[in-house]
Amino acid sequence: MKIFLDTANIDEIRVAAKTGILDGVTTNPSLIAKEGKAFEDVIAEICSLVDGPISAEVVSTETAGMISEARHLAGLHDNIVVKVPLTREGIGAVSVVSQEGIRTNVTLCFSPLQALVAAKAGATMVSPFTGRLDDIGHDGMEICSEIVQIYENYGYTTEVLVASIRSPKHVLEAALMGADIATIPPKVFDTMFNHPLTDKGLAAFLADWEKAGDAVTGAVPAGSD
Ligand code: E4P
Repeated sequence: MKIFLDTANIDEIRVAAKTGILDGVTTNPSLIAKEGKAFEDVIAEICSLVDGPISAEVVSTETAGMISEARHLAGLHDNIVVKVPLTREGIGAVSVVSQEGIRTNVTLCFSPLQALVAAKAGATMVSPFTGRLDDIGHDGMEICSEIVQIYENYGYTTEVLVASIRSPKHVLEAALMGADIATIPPKVFDTMFNHPLTDKGLAAFLADWEKAGDAVTGAVPAGSD
């Protein structure tokens, strides 16, 4: 499963990228607004830090506006994937720009049938928002899993990008169902490296190593030659 970071914060991206396991980044207008910097500058900086798909979202709501924004954004950097909302107008735009080779991430997907139309329009990725579905009493992961099943049934190449992840359990469930990508907030990303038994085990290994001293390091005691 590919791992994307769900943030527009440069420091968070820089820290996560150092692990070498980051495959891409997703942003949205709210995440960009939080940074208080020019949209295109933020996207350019992210592209310079991560060599993988970087989602940059259109803000037009009409098909024609989305098409022209998509063409502009895609021209900024090879890594850019244009994020388009899953509206009727958005799907119209995706149908046009996908024919031009522009990669798209169809976002704000909340149902398997929405995901079906995104695939038919030629979307590169579809983003079901699992946490927001859970928030209103639905089972977000069940919906993601139905999307994976539908794409498998018909051989659609659109990648399922599980979004609106709130916990490590969401990441685990995405991996178990065979989702192509999970976009993970930095706080959840950080939890994936940790286990108390790893810390305990490592502390014991190092203590034993220290206790054994010269016998294992091969150090020659001073004055013995
Ligand atoms: C995905 O691309 C979105 O940016 C994101 O996952 C939305 O998550 P939220 O529901 O936590 O805002």
